[in-house]
Amino acid sequence: MSTQAKTGDQQAPSRRDVWRMFDRIAPRYDLLNHLLSLNRDKSWRKRMGGLLPDGRDLAVLDLASGTGDQLLALHESGRVAFGVGLDMAAEMLAVGIKKIETGGLTGRLAMVRGDASAIPFADCTFDAVSITFGIRNLVDVRAGLAEMFRVLKPGGRALILEFSLPGNGFLRRMYLLYFRHILPRLGAVISGDSEAYRYLNRTVETFPYGEEFCALMRETGFGNVAAHPVTFGIATIYRGDRP
Ligand SMILES: C[S@@+](CC[C@H](N)C(=O)[O-])C[C@H]1O[C@@H](n2cnc3c(N)ncnc32)[C@H](O)[C@@H]1O
Repeated sequence: MSTQAKTGDQQAPSRRDVWRMFDRIAPRYDLLNHLLSLNRDKSWRKRMGGLLPDGRDLAVLDLASGTGDQLLALHESGRVAFGVGLDMAAEMLAVGIKKIETGGLTGRLAMVRGDASAIPFADCTFDAVSITFGIRNLVDVRAGLAEMFRVLKPGGRALILEFSLPGNGFLRRMYLLYFRHILPRLGAVISGDSEAYRYLNRTVETFPYGEEFCALMRETGFGNVAAHPVTFGIATIYRGDRP
């Protein structure tokens, strides 16, 4: 199965279009995130922190880190000695850097500009690599997973949080109604960018999730792969370890 074929459509934006879109909505991104997930994103991010591998001085990398909320949530687990957030959108990073400064965390956490498809770090560097609402944005998902695997130390853990579709038929229909008709309109009004939230809707509906995504992780070489659906399955946390 080609994930690119599956996620692609006639109007799929280029890589550069994707992060430029996030640059445009950066000032309102956090507000929209909390609003459109009905504030659930905070507890999902915290749960990711609870799934970090054993150890108290972990080095972590958060890909497509955006405004840094996942990086900060991992740090709040109290087990991160050093963390880096990587993203291509300078305006999103600027919001995250401000949060790190305000929290007095400069020196422990850093945010840098870089491409998750070609991670600018050496092999076997991190104890954990996370990506939250980001893997769907990568043009080549398999290449993204391979990069995560490469920079993990043996025994290190990949944690991926991504939207998915509820297993229950009724809930799925309600959720799709919200995603297709309400979310794009709300997102357009608040962000002032009608394209960004139509794009979210298109990509969520076509992206592999559940067992299909677990299979992609196993093919990359990850072991102990597991999917943890959250909030009726509207999002799923995937974990996999580098043997
Ligand atoms: C939906 S936001 C998620 C931000 C953050 N992880 C969060 O949980 O709120 C997706 C992010 O992916 C970034 N992005 C898209 N393609 C990327 C790439 N190839 N490399 C790094 N970041 C990328 C965008 O700039 C954007 O900040």
